[in-house]
Amino acid sequence: MRMVTFGKSRVIRRDRVRRQGLGIVALCPFYSCWVESGGLGDPVASRAWCVQAAAMLACPAVLEDPDAGRSWLPGDLAVAVRALQAHRVKCAERRAWPACRVLAGEEECMESAPSRTAVFAAVSRGLFRLETASPWVLDDVLALVLVGPVWQQLRDQFDPLFPGPVRREARAAVCTRSRYAEDRLAAGAFTQYVILGAGLDSFAWRRPDLLGSLAVFEVDHPASQAWKLERVRELGLPLSDSQVFVPVDFEAGPVQDVLGPAGFDWAQPAMFCWTGVAPYLTAQAIESTLRTIAAAAPGSEVVFSYRAEDCALDDAGTEYARIYTPIAASVGEPLQPGWPVSEIERLISRCGLTVVDHPARADLQQRYFAGRTDGLRPYTFETLVAARVA
Ligand SMILES: C[S@@+](CC[C@H](N)C(=O)[O-])C[C@H]1O[C@@H](n2cnc3c(N)ncnc32)[C@H](O)[C@@H]1O
Repeated sequence: MRMVTFGKSRVIRRDRVRRQGLGIVALCPFYSCWVESGGLGDPVASRAWCVQAAAMLACPAVLEDPDAGRSWLPGDLAVAVRALQAHRVKCAERRAWPACRVLAGEEECMESAPSRTAVFAAVSRGLFRLETASPWVLDDVLALVLVGPVWQQLRDQFDPLFPGPVRREARAAVCTRSRYAEDRLAAGAFTQYVILGAGLDSFAWRRPDLLGSLAVFEVDHPASQAWKLERVRELGLPLSDSQVFVPVDFEAGPVQDVLGPAGFDWAQPAMFCWTGVAPYLTAQAIESTLRTIAAAAPGSEVVFSYRAEDCALDDAGTEYARIYTPIAASVGEPLQPGWPVSEIERLISRCGLTVVDHPARADLQQRYFAGRTDGLRPYTFETLVAARVA
């Protein structure tokens, strides 16, 4: 049995450390996500230290000792304990936010709480419209309304973390990905629109012109979808017969199992919009979803955004990744590694789909931001791709 030494006198068995670490996970997934994502920066090297530090913080003696993490711990572990102590304070502050049910609930993980990144994306779409001169690449008047008054707190909390140009490019990108999907939808002959990981997407209310000829399937994590539907009810937004809400966890099972029973017709051409989701999913979950899409009728398409590999990012993209990675982890939705273009194309074709458009940032800038005098363009952090069922 390996023993782990903490400080001068504490000796804890490694299996007990693990159990205590997992105890923290149960007590506060906010910690665990941060720990799991390698809160010290280097995911692999720091993970062990973080788990040990989390285990230590389960011990009241450590929590109450202001010197813990300073004087009597070895190097990296001291850093981890200090960071987790600071993190704990942030967590407490976050829970204290008033009128912030989405973010301050007891449940802090995707299992039971709605997706906070979906809320962030909607805030981005709404603020883009407020802060940018028209014409807007996407005019999402309902985004902030769907989020509710808490959007102001989120703006005040998170805006100062991102330099202005980084924030502008990020917001432009979140709007561009929806616009791109909806443009491809409008250009094709689709009878079904499947929004995977829909979040607070307001397509059904923004685009009555398209809704009439489509069956729209909003597929999302059960907790996220339940919250969205509650907001829709609270706001009195109309629900059309064309809208079908399908709760599913992409990591738990294939989307295929739920779409058919929800009324999706596998023999009719469909457009799948899957934006802002793959960056949070494992390669296995991405592959499983792409294989499901490949089983749709010939001519069906998917538009999705994936995280670009780090070496493809420009300075603003790198800065965005550096700042956003711990935020996403802290809300229980850790980002997954980025993909090289050639690798994602290989995965797409291995799943039985054909890439039909894979625009670079410059292409998107040309298509959607040409003629502007403010130099606006989307960030490099995510890349869009469209693929078709042959
Ligand atoms: C950043 S939001 C993107 C929302 C929207 N598609 C957009 O483009 O802004 C991520 C969405 O993915 C969903 N999601 C993440 N992981 C999921 C999973 N394992 N199963 C189902 N949905 C998931 C979340 O519920 C959330 O709605």
